Amino acid sequence: MSFFQDIKAVKRADPAVRYGLEVLFFYPGMWAIWFYRFCHFLWKIHLKFISRLIMTIIRWLTGVEIHPGAMIGKRFVIDHGMGVVIGETAIIGDDCMMYHGVTLGGRGHSKEGRRHPKLGDNVVIGAGASILGPVTICKGAKIGAGAVVLNDVFEDETYVGQKARSVITK
Ligand SMILES: CC(C)(COP(=O)(O)OP(=O)(O)OC[C@H]1O[C@@H](n2cnc3c(N)ncnc32)[C@H](O)[C@@H]1OP(=O)(O)O)[C@@H](O)C(=O)NCCC(=O)NCCS
Repeated sequence: MSFFQDIKAVKRADPAVRYGLEVLFFYPGMWAIWFYRFCHFLWKIHLKFISRLIMTIIRWLTGVEIHPGAMIGKRFVIDHGMGVVIGETAIIGDDCMMYHGVTLGGRGHSKEGRRHPKLGDNVVIGAGASILGPVTICKGAKIGAGAVVLNDVFEDETYVGQKARSVITK
């Protein structure tokens, strides 16, 4: 059952966990994921307002904002949680993990197509990283804490850092 798989996944990912009950009580990232799964079901049966309402209340309680329209695979782990934002058209594969402060966000205002990142299986994203736009992070990739990613990342690649530079904006 996915609930027990989730608990096992957290135990694998976080050496601080001593037994499963700790995950139930001390992991707001996981509370948000469990409510997301229910709200994603509501979203799919077109109860969109109520699904967004519940996820907004969950955001107040956990600090984790997951849009119910996002598509998230099995055994997804959010460690610490606070400040995570996952946008409406984001896609997350199986066995992915992220830390607090991660943004899977959009870059523009177009309502057409996918606006948010797609993560393959087994992707790890470090604390505070921002992945913006409809980019693809292929399976097994790692994104370092604090990185800003605006382009595709290949399989098993590790990305760190952010380059600030002057650009012309419209
Ligand atoms: C990116 C990451 C996965 C790489 O881990 P790794 O494969 O073990 O790589 P290393 O630690 O050996 O580092 C490799 C190089 O990248 C650099 N590096 C690692 N993480 C970095 C980061 N977040 N930002 C900038 N540079 C980083 C290291 O300084 C090293 O550079 P060098 O070769 O010039 O010395 C890891 O450093 C990371 O950021 N993990 C996220 C952890 C996190 O968010 N923890 C929060 C816990 S609360």
